[in-house]
Amino acid sequence: MDVQAVLKLADELVFAKTGKHLEYLEEAILRGTIQGQKYSQIAEDFHLSEGHIRDVACELWKILSDVLEENVSKANVRYILERAKFYNFSTIGNDNLTINNVNICPQTPQSPQVTQQPQETSTQPHIDLGDAPEIFRFYDRTSQLTTLENWIICDRTRLIALLGISGIGKTTLSLRLIEQIKTHFDYIIYRSLRFSPTLNATLTNLLQIFPQQADIPQNIETQISQLLNYLRQYRCLIIIDDVQMLFCSGQLAGQYKTGYEDYQLFFKLIAEVNHNSCLFINSWEKPREIAKLEVNNNYVRTLVLGSLGLAAKEILKDRKLSDEEAWETLIDTYQGNPLWLELTASTIQDLFGGSVSDFLQCDAPILDESLQAQLDQQFQRLTQQELAVMIQLAKESEPVALPDILKILQLSVSNLVNAIRSLVIRLLVEVKEEGKTTFFSLNTVMKEYVKNRYMR
Ligand SMILES: Nc1ncnc2c1ncn2[C@@H]1O[C@H](COP(=O)(O)OP(=O)(O)O)[C@@H](O)[C@H]1O
Ligand SMILES: [Mg+2]
Repeated sequence: MDVQAVLKLADELVFAKTGKHLEYLEEAILRGTIQGQKYSQIAEDFHLSEGHIRDVACELWKILSDVLEENVSKANVRYILERAKFYNFSTIGNDNLTINNVNICPQTPQSPQVTQQPQETSTQPHIDLGDAPEIFRFYDRTSQLTTLENWIICDRTRLIALLGISGIGKTTLSLRLIEQIKTHFDYIIYRSLRFSPTLNATLTNLLQIFPQQADIPQNIETQISQLLNYLRQYRCLIIIDDVQMLFCSGQLAGQYKTGYEDYQLFFKLIAEVNHNSCLFINSWEKPREIAKLEVNNNYVRTLVLGSLGLAAKEILKDRKLSDEEAWETLIDTYQGNPLWLELTASTIQDLFGGSVSDFLQCDAPILDESLQAQLDQQFQRLTQQELAVMIQLAKESEPVALPDILKILQLSVSNLVNAIRSLVIRLLVEVKEEGKTTFFSLNTVMKEYVKNRYMR
């Protein structure tokens, strides 16, 4: 392949879009990528951080995606540019380039409609956060923010599920993400499903946000198709929080309540139909269709949110707790869950004079009543079989494999497998692979909760 010719083509494309030629570093990243180099190698060559190279590359793929009307990434840029050069750019070197039958004139970079995709403008997006909570403090989550930004901006992912148990920080992270990426969007919308609105109510609410050309239809199909039109016409980020409210209690994870099944179709269409926007959902449980879709659809991704890690020390600092040397143990005990740590910090302040060491001297973990109430909401959803498995796991001092649980519980293999799978989807059970065996266990907080509520 003629690398120089491909670089020249890319430069012309970028110039046509932005009015600026490729910068030295951008060209180097493109050359390195085409020649199979990793970002880390390019970073080393230029004595720059890998993160910086990634950021510059991300912007470049985005511009090329816009111009070429397809998703350009590190993995496919070589192929796409080679193909573009071969098929679409026979006129290269002339004043006008033709890309996918759209005429681009390098001398008039402002001629905006080179693609059907909305232009990313520097104007303020329309932001409607509805009843989103205000975020006063935010610590870390740097790697998750980078991943999500890459998925949304570089990879143009259409449907993202952010999963995690209650209190781990899904709402906070998704709202913080807005700050980071808002300039890429025309519309940014946040809605919570905490009161379980029907799909009809949710769509009516969303459609009202856009400039109305006609009345909002009543029929779900027409509503979805109108929303998809907006998602094509504008680049939108729609965050739908508390999606777990759509699922049943007393049934295996991810089963829609009666009357809410049409959300399934909505999520599926968002993933499968071509548009320029992103639907970002937060949930305790992974919706079943997302698990199915992400197998074959590159536009669907899932991120499971875990411990806040050592950044949670900032929460303890805000609460003015003492004995800093013991904070790491406290964070580990409460699984780095910001809400659990906030609730526990209140107990430590109120009853232990702020001393973390004194608190840990007691038989930790102590579960504050409001922490138990948080877990009650999640446990109320379990089936009898799931609860039986949780009680058995709470009795075990070591992780156990499925056959060991089967020996003790009076369950058929199918029922046990379904119960465990469902508990894993609910993120209530920890899973560890060792050799060819999978082991299951409960973390210390779960164990204590199950013992308190179901075994005393
Ligand atoms: N990264 C963070 N930095 C500081 N506080 C956080 C962070 N993530 C979560 N919190 C705090 O933890 C609590 C629970 O967070 P939230 O986002 O509501 O969790 P979820 O939506 O997963 O239930 C909130 O009080 C929030 O302020
Ligand atoms: Mg939340």
